[in-house]
Amino acid sequence: MNSIIKLNNVSYSYNDNGLITPVLQDLDLIIDQGESVAILGQSGCGKSTLLNLIGGMSTPDKGEVLINNIDITELNENKTTEIRSKNLGFVYQFHHLLKDFTALDNVAMPLLIQGYSKTESMQKSVEILDSIGLSQRIDHLPAQLSGGERQRVAIARALITNPICLLADEPTGNLDAKNAIDVLDLMIKLNHNKNSALVVVTHDEKIAKKMQRVLVMEGGKLNEC
Ligand SMILES: Nc1ncnc2c1ncn2[C@@H]1O[C@H](COP(=O)(O)OP(=O)(O)O)[C@@H](O)[C@H]1O
Ligand SMILES: [Mg+2]
Repeated sequence: MNSIIKLNNVSYSYNDNGLITPVLQDLDLIIDQGESVAILGQSGCGKSTLLNLIGGMSTPDKGEVLINNIDITELNENKTTEIRSKNLGFVYQFHHLLKDFTALDNVAMPLLIQGYSKTESMQKSVEILDSIGLSQRIDHLPAQLSGGERQRVAIARALITNPICLLADEPTGNLDAKNAIDVLDLMIKLNHNKNSALVVVTHDEKIAKKMQRVLVMEGGKLNEC
């Protein structure tokens, strides 16, 4: 199997003016192409910190973070941003959609940033919104959408560039039980269609059960469940 994300011996501490908070300690992780993984763990154990390291938003104190076999800890910020936007998609608990832009414009944004033409960006975005049942909502602003719809738009935006891995940090934490399952099923379906990997940080055992692998974070490390 081709591993698309690999963390070797990663340690990370926050340092706020000399106040050191150790979070991750000698952590290893391998994620293979197309697999789905849940990460469980108590609040404050370091799950969001881990996703930030995978995305290169922060750099570990030691260890390697390989995305598609490239160690991003060795790269400068511009190159890291390029690797991130080419390979990874992110979904958060709160949708982070741009409030003055329509659903369509929000979804098209990553493609425009990558240099696709306006026509092609819009066409691809209409297609993905259509495929997730939002063709009647493309001209709506985020404020004119329900919570579940906003999260579906955020997922479409994260997947529009065909990332090799979607990283979702408590993506359903803000939704009721029915919408949570719908949003999760949508992520699983789209990821499966695109053969991209899915990593979901969650507190919800029902969601974890839908993933192929469940990892628990404890003591700065991940353990297979
Ligand atoms: N910017 C920061 N400065 C200092 N400590 C932080 C910062 N961000 C998070 N932490 C601490 O790091 C630990 C892990 O945080 P986080 O990764 O957000 O946990 P989780 O996502 O599992 O709830 C927590 O104890 C938190 O208080
Ligand atoms: Mg968190």
